[in-house]
Amino acid sequence: EVFDTFRNEPDTDFDLKANKAWAEAIIEKWSKKPLEIIPLQIGDEQIVTEKRIKYEDRCQDGYIPYEMSTADAAQMQRMLDMSEKSSWRDTAIEERIEILHKAGNLMADNRGDLIGVMAAVTSKTLTEGDVEVSEAIDFCRFYPLTMRDLLKEKGVKITPKGSILVISPWNFPLAIPVGGVVAALAGGNSVILKPATVSAPVMWEACKLLWEAGVPRDALQIVITNGREPLNLLTKSPIIKHIILTGGTDTAQRIAVGNPRVPLSAETGGKNAIIITSKGDRDKAIMNAVASAFGNAGQKCSACSLLLVEKSVFDDPSFRSKMVDCASSYHTGSPWDMTNTVGPMITNDNDKLINAILNKEEGTEWLIPPVFLDQKKYILRPTILWGAKPHNYTFHTELFAPFLTVGSVDSLEQAIEFVNNLDYGLTSGLQSLDEAEIALWKETLEAGNLYINRGITGAIVNRQPFGGMKLSAFGGGIKAGGINYVSCFTNVANNGELA
Ligand code: SER
Repeated sequence: EVFDTFRNEPDTDFDLKANKAWAEAIIEKWSKKPLEIIPLQIGDEQIVTEKRIKYEDRCQDGYIPYEMSTADAAQMQRMLDMSEKSSWRDTAIEERIEILHKAGNLMADNRGDLIGVMAAVTSKTLTEGDVEVSEAIDFCRFYPLTMRDLLKEKGVKITPKGSILVISPWNFPLAIPVGGVVAALAGGNSVILKPATVSAPVMWEACKLLWEAGVPRDALQIVITNGREPLNLLTKSPIIKHIILTGGTDTAQRIAVGNPRVPLSAETGGKNAIIITSKGDRDKAIMNAVASAFGNAGQKCSACSLLLVEKSVFDDPSFRSKMVDCASSYHTGSPWDMTNTVGPMITNDNDKLINAILNKEEGTEWLIPPVFLDQKKYILRPTILWGAKPHNYTFHTELFAPFLTVGSVDSLEQAIEFVNNLDYGLTSGLQSLDEAEIALWKETLEAGNLYINRGITGAIVNRQPFGGMKLSAFGGGIKAGGINYVSCFTNVANNGELA
């Protein structure tokens, strides 16, 4: 089925009885599948390499669902050469739409398996994984349609750039890489995908669906490497004409400095705040803040990690106790247990988190102290630090963990000032029912995605084009899931005619 107009793919309602049984079947299959060795795919050739990465389930010792082959420099050069020669650029837009929409349909048909591989490899809960599959499907349908619209524009000639390198993160191991890949392919480019090593089998499963739908193997290649040196070979290759990166601000800076020749579009970190004023609906504000802080164990670039509360609310003991109740209702543990909403973190070696826990600063207190629920320190219960001021470490540092810092502010104006003083500007939220406050905040707050009286994660394709400002973005004003995203990865020339 090819869609002529775009509509969003709905998520699964896990409360329905039939869907509960479906979820149990996913758990049954994916919490104990036999080991699969993923080869390095170069064109039609599959090579099982000696150097492989092992993937071990954080919640089950000894359960290894995958090993994945890594490429050396010579193999990567072969992939680059193949990418350069791909004839994907000559396909008509109608054909690209057909193939990419088919890929979206295949992802819909294989929703359970995509959720399963995310849980097995990255410990993502089934409900969080489900939302991500919907977003990936949306990208497959949306970007080729926006490309078709762009091609209809008068006065311009739009051509592919060539080979594009997509470097993607582990926290949205499916939706973000699929988005980058499909946007580049929709524009007629060929793609080398370098997913985060820790989550790469997820995209191996997705690439199989994209290939099955008709994307040629030379137009989409996936590779993981051993260390930074081989990665440099990719980022510095003259064959690569653009890099799409979602990852840490430091990685983006390193790539930009090391490779000034290649345009880089990067969506990076965030230190995202929600402000609650005395005119907000407190109960809803608490629910939105807690969901935005602890979903995906706080490992979203969009996550709320700072809550600024107007003093009269902050000082009210019932506000404190409701925060504790709400956050404590988020059960924490293995994604194989559907009653858990917060899964394990991807790593037990997060320096910034450890620093925040070991060096609690004077004047702050634990509203909910940090407690690891497993010996290996992957599973951290939702943690809340209370009473932080702008100079405190966690007030301005992105921890990427289920850790929320709460501070008191004298006024909305002061809260806006505190937020605007942060280096980042990705998402931001206001909880207030007052029109004048909303207007002031919308006018003055510096962040790419502003959300009023709702959570600040989970941007929906086409409805909430996603991307930040300040240190949260490189390459300027680029919005994933927005109508202009695809054009960033094409060459746009004036064709000599008047528009
Ligand atoms: N798009 C995701 C969100 O909005 C983050 O990458 O939460």
